[in-house]
Amino acid sequence: MIITNCSNSEKLAKSVARKLKASYSKLTISSFPDGDLYLKFNTSLKGKKLVIVQSFHPDSSRSLIEVIFAAQTAKDLGAKKVILVAPYLAYMRQDKRFNSGEAISSRIMAKLLNSSIDKIITVDPHLHRYRSLKDIFTISTKKLTANGVIARCVHKNFHDAVIIGPDWESYQWAEDIAKKIHVPVTVLRKQRYSSHKVRVKLVDKINLKGKDVVIVDDIISTGHTIAEAAKKAKKLGAKNVYAICVHGLYVDNALRTMISAGVKRVISTNTITHPTNGIDISSEIVAALGKA
Ligand code: R5P
Repeated sequence: MIITNCSNSEKLAKSVARKLKASYSKLTISSFPDGDLYLKFNTSLKGKKLVIVQSFHPDSSRSLIEVIFAAQTAKDLGAKKVILVAPYLAYMRQDKRFNSGEAISSRIMAKLLNSSIDKIITVDPHLHRYRSLKDIFTISTKKLTANGVIARCVHKNFHDAVIIGPDWESYQWAEDIAKKIHVPVTVLRKQRYSSHKVRVKLVDKINLKGKDVVIVDDIISTGHTIAEAAKKAKKLGAKNVYAICVHGLYVDNALRTMISAGVKRVISTNTITHPTNGIDISSEIVAALGKA
């Protein structure tokens, strides 16, 4: 088995290779002066299983194209199987035509990958209208979750914690994490008016007075969802508010938006490399690859 990465996820790819005692080989990736992608393997792939670790952030479109070029080149060079580990899989949120004429990006992304790789392993993909990755992928799929490592982090670092999921979709993280460590949980209702305008409301009664509130979500993009949930928690008497996400995209001034809303600390998993990374998901990936 050979492990590599494209432009993203080098640290994670190396850590996975080390834990699996597999060889890591660095791809040469650059751009021609006109922007065309240049890509070169630096090891023999004949008859080998290749694992490409590549998060689709930053630059989701370029990340996708790099994977397609790498996978197709690997096959061309004789690789027997190409597995993509996409710790963060982009394009999943556009899972329907919200307005007429729109592209259903998730389906197109999956179609492109279906024809280039043999298997995809990803962490907490944004499954909202799709029930499973099988709804869009024809290749073998494996969905991992960071719930276990997040639960351990909350248990270790926060005293008298209450978990909040900022919208109903987040029940799949919030409720599971809370159950694992036996702490109270509630899921808010969210209304999104635009990328930057979000409102949340509390539906079930919960005591937040004097508590460490940990808001858990899959993705933090602009940070407005977490910011609104944090303001609500503060209003209800929370002592400290923390935010944990699986995938920290942090667009615009997301961190500033959350901190100004009263969030004391933001922690992310390393599906996307960022200074907020405080939770390591490499063991989950290693376990999945051990069986691949
Ligand atoms: C959406 O349904 C996701 O689970 C996140 O809540 C959302 O992507 C967060 O976006 P933002 O940080 O821009 O509010």
